[in-house]
Amino acid sequence: MTRQLMSRLLACVGLLCVASSALADGVKIGLSLPTQREERWVKDRVTMLAEAKKLGVDLRVQVTDNDAAKQVSQCENLISQGVKVLILAPHDASSAAVIIDKATKAGIKVISYDRLVTGSMADYYYLSFDNVKVGELQGEWLTKQVPKGSYIALAGSPTDNNAKLFRAGAMKYIQPLADKGDIKIVMEQWVKDWQPSEAQKLCEQALTANKNKVDAVLAPNDGTAGGCIQALAAQGLAGKVPITGQDAELSAAIRIVQGTQGMTIFKDTRELGKKAIEMALDLANGKKIETGSQVVNNGKKDVPSVLLTPFIVTKDNLDKMLIDSGYLKKEQVYRK
Ligand code: BGC
Repeated sequence: MTRQLMSRLLACVGLLCVASSALADGVKIGLSLPTQREERWVKDRVTMLAEAKKLGVDLRVQVTDNDAAKQVSQCENLISQGVKVLILAPHDASSAAVIIDKATKAGIKVISYDRLVTGSMADYYYLSFDNVKVGELQGEWLTKQVPKGSYIALAGSPTDNNAKLFRAGAMKYIQPLADKGDIKIVMEQWVKDWQPSEAQKLCEQALTANKNKVDAVLAPNDGTAGGCIQALAAQGLAGKVPITGQDAELSAAIRIVQGTQGMTIFKDTRELGKKAIEMALDLANGKKIETGSQVVNNGKKDVPSVLLTPFIVTKDNLDKMLIDSGYLKKEQVYRK
């Protein structure tokens, strides 16, 4: 049996064959990821590789390790390998615009994956979650826990457009209370490259400067939350100061169960990864992607977008959201 036939058969699980699979035929698709240092990006990669294998797609993966220049050269390399579509999760939103230009000139379609590439006039698609909603869920939860008090408000990497969207969403809830004088923001900072160690340092500084009088921490994701929780723990404050997160990482789920982190956001990267491969195959086969009227502005133009729904996870719904859905394993979350 040929590899192609085999992959088609594998794609035909259940009653229906996946429509685009019949046309995959080893089509080359490029994937450029910013990092593998965080669990969520490992999951994106694993899902996409599995989906590509199932559909007979030749997926070529590059990881930039948070280096914008390296991402450009890795993508140039993918372009020269003859990929038909490039799935691009930019490390640096604006410097990745040149990648879209180069790909488009070479007749390659681009999907901006999870993070939006900004400032490009070329035609491309955006596939992500509703990232403003992510921030809203964080801000709403945090202001409910602490409607009055001193806040540390951290945002993600300034080079990541998502960080701006998360922050804007959270500030919809925090800013009005700050304007009223109920909330005092004692530190407001971006965290370079989303580094947990950087977040820890910032929280340590804020705790010292305010003699530990901090009542709430807006941490943009689970990695940075982990760093802040170490800073809080060193002052005997872990579990006493409500703190947010995002990504439903295993370590965060454990902290939620143990009570040192209050919430996280579940963005099902399995769905996102699967959708990316499906969209890429459709584009490779010359199909238009149905996005309805959904768009996200990239600073120069509206980019047609597909946005999946994020969900809040607390101790109360963690089992249902993360374990019953198979995203995390019960024995790992509730390890002794
Ligand atoms: C992603 C988050 C992730 C962060 C750091 C963001 O663009 O949407 O899920 O935690 O990058 O990698």
